[in-house]
Amino acid sequence: MAQFSDQVILITGASSGIGRALALELAPRRPKLVLAARDAQRLEDAAATCLRLGAETLAVPTDVTVEEQCGELIARAIKRFGRLDALVNNAGRAMWARFDELTDLAVMEEIMRLNYLGSVYCTHFALTHLKQSCGLIVAVASVSGLLGAPLLSGYVASKHAVIGFYESLRIELAGSGVGVTIVAPDFVQSEILSRAVDAKGQRLNKSPLDQKKLMTAEACARRIVKAMGRRERLVLTSARSKWARWGKLLAPKLVDWIAAAAVQGDY
Ligand SMILES: NC(=O)c1ccc[n+]([C@@H]2O[C@H](COP(=O)([O-])OP(=O)(O)OC[C@H]3O[C@@H](n4cnc5c(N)ncnc54)[C@H](OP(=O)(O)O)[C@@H]3O)[C@@H](O)[C@H]2O)c1
Repeated sequence: MAQFSDQVILITGASSGIGRALALELAPRRPKLVLAARDAQRLEDAAATCLRLGAETLAVPTDVTVEEQCGELIARAIKRFGRLDALVNNAGRAMWARFDELTDLAVMEEIMRLNYLGSVYCTHFALTHLKQSCGLIVAVASVSGLLGAPLLSGYVASKHAVIGFYESLRIELAGSGVGVTIVAPDFVQSEILSRAVDAKGQRLNKSPLDQKKLMTAEACARRIVKAMGRRERLVLTSARSKWARWGKLLAPKLVDWIAAAAVQGDY
């Protein structure tokens, strides 16, 4: 419990799903939590719950696709708490459409701007402070950032970009004291699928997968906290993703089949 006490931890996408669960999982360890997302009310709700659980909190409504807002977010965190020990780049969104059926390409750009550039912007503004604290960067990517998955091509591409960026940054930061933990979850219960857009750019409003069959956001958050404590390099959350990582070299067609079955909820 003492491990995160008084540490300043900034989490983007903290208003729902994995980000909110992570904030709540960390809160009893008495950190100073900076919570960011666009929805100010939901962010305040998350902050109030974390406060009750033992954390000091600062909620900063932020759209991480806007570079200036990311700079302001980090500046607000430093102004309030004077340091930054961990940055968790978690804000993200998905799509649910075949590429050859897309009628509006905007989603490809929007997803890349949020999932990839949003993380890059926050990391850029946080890096000086993380070097001072020998801190930690956590990139919440996806197992799809290591493989392929149908209906998610733009999302998968953005997560490949995230993983490539942080793998490279880790090498650049060797000797600086700053750690990089990449989290690559399999499907997790959250709002990401119901918020995903279809081929016409319309929000699904309903998860295409049975959420009850997926890992809970709380279990995912517990795994992330463990990885943060150990400064792990890469976190995979399911047996099939651990297998698929190696299976891709040995039996790539089988891994493609598993990915196709996974989005149908069949495997
Ligand atoms: N759930 C899964 O199956 C799964 C699997 C692998 C990886 N992941 C990754 O886990 C991360 C969290 O997703 P989740 O599953 O917890 O989804 P979620 O429940 O939809 O949460 C997404 C969070 O991102 C925030 N967000 C969205 N657009 C934003 C923006 N422009 N600026 C700032 N914040 C923004 C949302 O808050 P606002 O709308 O208030 O801004 C929300 O807090 C994502 O990076 C996702 O790719 C999820």
